[in-house]
Amino acid sequence: MPKPLTFLGLESSCDDTAAAVVRYLPGHLGQILSSVVDGQTALHAPFGGVVPEIAARAHAERLDHCVERALLDAGLTLADIDGIAVTAGPGLIGGVLSGVMCAKGIAAARGLPLVGVNHLAGHALTPRLTDGVSFPYLMLLVSGGHCQFLLARGVDDFTRLGGTIDDAPGEAFDKMAKLLGLPQPGGPMVEAEAAHGNPKRFAFPRPLLDRPGCDLSFSGLKTAVLRARDALISAQGGITVQDRRDLCAGFQAAVADVLAEKSKRALAQSPPVTAVAVAGGVGAHKAIRARLETGCVSAGVQFLAPPLALCTDNAAMIAWAGIERFRNGARDGMDLAARPRWPLDTISPAMLGFGKKGAKA
Ligand code: KG4
Ligand code: ZN
Repeated sequence: MPKPLTFLGLESSCDDTAAAVVRYLPGHLGQILSSVVDGQTALHAPFGGVVPEIAARAHAERLDHCVERALLDAGLTLADIDGIAVTAGPGLIGGVLSGVMCAKGIAAARGLPLVGVNHLAGHALTPRLTDGVSFPYLMLLVSGGHCQFLLARGVDDFTRLGGTIDDAPGEAFDKMAKLLGLPQPGGPMVEAEAAHGNPKRFAFPRPLLDRPGCDLSFSGLKTAVLRARDALISAQGGITVQDRRDLCAGFQAAVADVLAEKSKRALAQSPPVTAVAVAGGVGAHKAIRARLETGCVSAGVQFLAPPLALCTDNAAMIAWAGIERFRNGARDGMDLAARPRWPLDTISPAMLGFGKKGAKA
């Protein structure tokens, strides 16, 4: 009987404190025994964005409780855990440090192996947890802090084919929401408004489609929306509910068009792959998912999108990535460092782009 591996995962790189227990049994899909996500949206709401110091303190206060709850929900104790996986970067350094210290404490106290995980690898390996996809596959990572096309060749082997040269798409959704007086996080809000809007009323640009390759840009699009909003305000003294819906619909259509076209190019540029997968918070957007799926169907490639709760930040993906790395022989010691920046692809030249968590790759 093959022996299962059960890992506790911790995630605290941005504004979600999370702990999860995931089990690997050879020959089976990974099993998420529990996944606790304690979001900090309410804490940061008055400031219109994530405040690093507030986030770090909240992580330090909440991690223990999340771990307790994750074990309780899984019906396990630390005696049943085979290893601890923790996000060791990239992200807001105070939060990453909180997670790394907590993980080191548990690992040292219980004599358990410790595995540091790159947050981006957590997202990028999620389709292996949910669907058991084999390498190589093409990954579109789209969130509030990152935006890149990755060729996933192995657990620690990623090649970046392209990425944003400025904002990440989730960041653009969040800024859009701010411009239009909608609450954060902006993605789901803009998506809900756009459902009642006319995507054709405003002709927003499709940035970088006129250039070859699969790099992306979102900051010009945001500026175009700002101009359209200001034109409405000066013409009519404000914007109506319908204006807002139409602005959201126009913006969203532009983002979906760009992601769909650039995905097509990334696929054309990469060697044969087993699947195309999407991950990160923006992967939760239904219309964007649908567009990506249509593109894959016409290219004859399998399309994978993890369940919504596994698209946004969570610790199950960290526990899983920890298991994968552990099975590959990875072990970290008490000198595991918290890294604010940590590109997944260390060979391709660094991107200029910044996400809300700073330059990553
Ligand atoms: O992956 P994630 O949870 O955290 C980061 O690592 O950034 O992604 C959060 C981002 C936020 O910018 C949020 O507005 C966006 O993902 N997001 C969405 C949706 N749900 C979350 N964007 C578009 N549509 C959504 N439904
Ligand atoms: Zn993330």
